[in-house]
Amino acid sequence: MKISDKIILITGGSAGIGFQIARLLAERGNTIVITGRNEANLKKAIAELSNGNFEAADVTSSGDVDRLYQAISSKYGRLDVLINNAGKGYTYELASGQDAFEKASQEVLTNYLSVIRMVDKFVPLLSVPNESAIVNVSSVAAFVPGYNTPTYSASKAALHSYTQSLRYALRKKTGIKVWELMPPW
Ligand SMILES: NC(=O)c1ccc[n+]([C@@H]2O[C@H](COP(=O)([O-])OP(=O)(O)OC[C@H]3O[C@@H](n4cnc5c(N)ncnc54)[C@H](OP(=O)(O)O)[C@@H]3O)[C@@H](O)[C@H]2O)c1
Repeated sequence: MKISDKIILITGGSAGIGFQIARLLAERGNTIVITGRNEANLKKAIAELSNGNFEAADVTSSGDVDRLYQAISSKYGRLDVLINNAGKGYTYELASGQDAFEKASQEVLTNYLSVIRMVDKFVPLLSVPNESAIVNVSSVAAFVPGYNTPTYSASKAALHSYTQSLRYALRKKTGIKVWELMPPW
């Protein structure tokens, strides 16, 4: 797959791994759109990219995802690569009185359910067979759960399983490629 002259959307692109992916892909002549919740951080990040735009959007909000879809489709009319990178994780131990249910709910909503919503929403814009792709950022914790990141690890395991099914379904129906990035691998 050619990786220049693409329109690439990266959730959580204002910091960390998402920002470094944005930087590398911008240097290769792609148009990058990064998202995040904090607009000031997005503006700071975009100033360092050679060819970037941003949309403030929370992946856990259906209204924000709708707005993001409208913005991309009206500005570009298509999307080539969707990188689902935004993630949330708590460090704590189970059975330690720390409201694991609430923590797990936020992790599952951000790391797993929101990716499903993003994919449902954006697949119709990712239309070019063999030249468009989805990248889901999971974690090695999906395969080897950390004892102090128990529900985060489980949310990434769910994302890993879903990504395998998505790869199969989209290969058969659309030709859209599906990759999984498992930091720190
Ligand atoms: N760093 C690691 O060692 C590591 C290891 C394994 C897997 N991962 C995975 O890699 C991905 C990136 O991790 P990272 O360490 O680079 O993260 P990070 O440095 O904490 O950056 C997170 C980015 O995601 C955005 N974000 C967080 N919640 C969001 C939401 N609800 N909606 C939209 N954007 C949101 C943040 O911006 P705002 O706060 O402004 O929204 C920021 O741009 C995550 O999926 C993480 O689980 C990381």
